[in-house]
Amino acid sequence: MSTPGEPHGGDLVALLVSGEPAAEIEHEAATLPAITVDSRTRSDLELLINGGFSPLRGFIGADDYASVVDRMTLRNGLPWPIPVYLAVGSERAGELRAGTRAALRDADGTLLAVIDIEETYARDKQREAELVYRTAEEAHPGVAAMYASGDLLLGGPVTAVRLPAYGSFHQYRLTPAQTRSVFAARGWKTVVGFQTRNPIHRAHEYLIKVALESVDGALIHPLVGDTKDDDIPAEVRMRCYEALIENYFVPERVLLSVLPAAMRYAGPREAIFHAIMRKNYGCTHFIVGRDHAGVGNYYGTYDAQRIFDEVDVGLLGIQPLFFEHAFWCLRTGAMATTRTSPASPEERLVLSGTRVRELLRAGQELPAEFTRPEVARVLIESMAPAV
Ligand code: ADX
Repeated sequence: MSTPGEPHGGDLVALLVSGEPAAEIEHEAATLPAITVDSRTRSDLELLINGGFSPLRGFIGADDYASVVDRMTLRNGLPWPIPVYLAVGSERAGELRAGTRAALRDADGTLLAVIDIEETYARDKQREAELVYRTAEEAHPGVAAMYASGDLLLGGPVTAVRLPAYGSFHQYRLTPAQTRSVFAARGWKTVVGFQTRNPIHRAHEYLIKVALESVDGALIHPLVGDTKDDDIPAEVRMRCYEALIENYFVPERVLLSVLPAAMRYAGPREAIFHAIMRKNYGCTHFIVGRDHAGVGNYYGTYDAQRIFDEVDVGLLGIQPLFFEHAFWCLRTGAMATTRTSPASPEERLVLSGTRVRELLRAGQELPAEFTRPEVARVLIESMAPAV
């Protein structure tokens, strides 16, 4: 049983060392084989280093891999739905062997961490796709990224000397320890986490505000790692979130911060994954609405809610808050769901993502009932051709 607010597995993992031990690693790394991390691995590494992936202390080995893929738990029974491994090309098998150490470097060569390789293993990618993503189709962006990753997996603990560096929105890059201390300073005992990879439209705002009626605060936690090409870039989204919070939220009740994770678009499994990370960032509750982390028509509208029935909620230790599809209701003149409005389908204002993009590209305002004008303005400006 996990106490509300406690990190997954009990303790917040911190893999950064400093001072003499860090200097020794820097020195030794010059002689170690280097693995240059791609942007997805960089996201995973950052979450290992900062404790967002607690209780993991490194990239998982073959037993945990099998347990995660088959049963959605680590070997010790703790819920864990998506494997976090270090994948490299099989041509490096001779060099990266069990019992050796390798340096994990950023694309510019900066040393981030070392891994003590405990084991190397292979996986059945198609099986992983079917079990984790519920499809083996390469048209699925998460499956495509996984298929494109290396065939040799390395498992073992990580020791880090620095977090990856960023050029943008530094003030929002809080670690789990930092969000936790903000919550404590504000006296928040209950905090709802909100995952998003989109601009916050009225439906999203509604979910957060309904949740805020019964918890102390909300962590608005956009994911800023890799997303698919037609998603709105994180820089634009951040300006939308700022405009929305400034004008439509009580600032003392929300904290805007970013999650460095990459999107997998794994729908149901990713909903659990997202919840566990937010637990580590100090949230006690987590919003799961319609087609959470879904893409195309791969998942049913509420599959990402139903999957929580397959998880031991006591061990999960964060309370999911489920929401039905929310829309602007023309009959009641308010945001609603079918639970709260008797309106017919024709009385619901629903815009697909495709329609929203069409309107924005044409420089047209989105209906104010769909998106706040301040948010729409940021989006329209971002689409305007540079002059
Ligand atoms: S996601 O990939 O991060 O899930 P998005 O940013 O669109 O995509 O959604 C963030 C959260 O809001 C998810 O929990 C999603 O289920 C929920 N959500 C988005 N739109 C709606 C809606 N119209 N009604 C109910 N929930 C929604």
